[in-house]
Amino acid sequence: MLLMDSSTKISFNRCIRDGDLVIVYERHDTMKAVKVCENSVLQNRFGVFKHSDWIGKPFGSKVFSNKGGFVYLLAPTPELWTLVLSHRTQILYIADISFVIMYLEVVPGCLVLESGTGSGSLTTSFARAVSPMGHVYTFDFHEQRAASAREDFERTGISTLVTVGVRDIQGDGFPDQFSGLADSVFLDLPQPWLAIPSARNMLKQDGTLCSFSPCIEQVQRSCETLRSDFTDIRTFEILLRTYEVREWKMDHLKVNDGNSTACPPRKRRQPSSEASVGDNASSSAVMARPSAETRGHTGYLTFARKCVS
Ligand SMILES: C[S@@+](CC[C@H](N)C(=O)[O-])C[C@H]1O[C@@H](n2cnc3c(N)ncnc32)[C@H](O)[C@@H]1O
Repeated sequence: MLLMDSSTKISFNRCIRDGDLVIVYERHDTMKAVKVCENSVLQNRFGVFKHSDWIGKPFGSKVFSNKGGFVYLLAPTPELWTLVLSHRTQILYIADISFVIMYLEVVPGCLVLESGTGSGSLTTSFARAVSPMGHVYTFDFHEQRAASAREDFERTGISTLVTVGVRDIQGDGFPDQFSGLADSVFLDLPQPWLAIPSARNMLKQDGTLCSFSPCIEQVQRSCETLRSDFTDIRTFEILLRTYEVREWKMDHLKVNDGNSTACPPRKRRQPSSEASVGDNASSSAVMARPSAETRGHTGYLTFARKCVS
């Protein structure tokens, strides 16, 4: 759970309790969300972990299995939730999400409208950004997806910050009750240009809109529609490059491969008695190189500000 405390602030500054949701972290690409249940166990390649050992420990604790293996119990922040949630649709990832939150100027107290909800990846970050007093109203026309998103928001403890509605936003627009009240509108729809006139009516004067589209043709069409009532229309593609930084043996290094940067060896190990003179197999260097896992194109983000004529 994102853990609302009595003053309705999201906080992980407490110990794990029975019923909490925790992220069981093995490594950055091996994590899962687990609901703590006093009588349950978690079994993985490291052995058997008793949930009862976790209760009372602070988030971030290293916990051990019956075989001495370990995992970390992390708080289910929106950043981690995005990595472990079940993909019912394509989702937005951290690079796009962080840019969206910043560029849409989403801050505590904002009223945000979103469609479609999809897997709720972005919604979870919106919820934290608007908390404790703001609210996110998110709409999807797919009933089962909306229901699953609601269940997830219960599990992650943000249901008081998010309302999920079932509605065809391209066909029917956002509900009139939000007219002129939204600080920001976010669209992740196949034909966003159909929803833009309604989004415009929902926005406050000076409100911001963002539309995510995987194809440039969708962007072109959206921008054409935006031109009549919006200003500062800008499109971005967010490309994230992650790096692997670790110590490598010198004989494995291809220092001049154009992709890697090697620092001078930090220390040289003493050659063992078996090593021949000139054998540099035991030398090492800390090397940084772009990670092979780096995600490429996800989509284009088009931002615009409602202008008042
Ligand atoms: C790619 S997903 C959104 C993913 C979401 N941004 C996330 O980060 O998890 C697109 C969603 O839009 C919904 N959708 C498509 N057309 C719609 C429409 N006309 N009205 C409302 N929702 C729609 C789909 O059901 C789907 O769940």
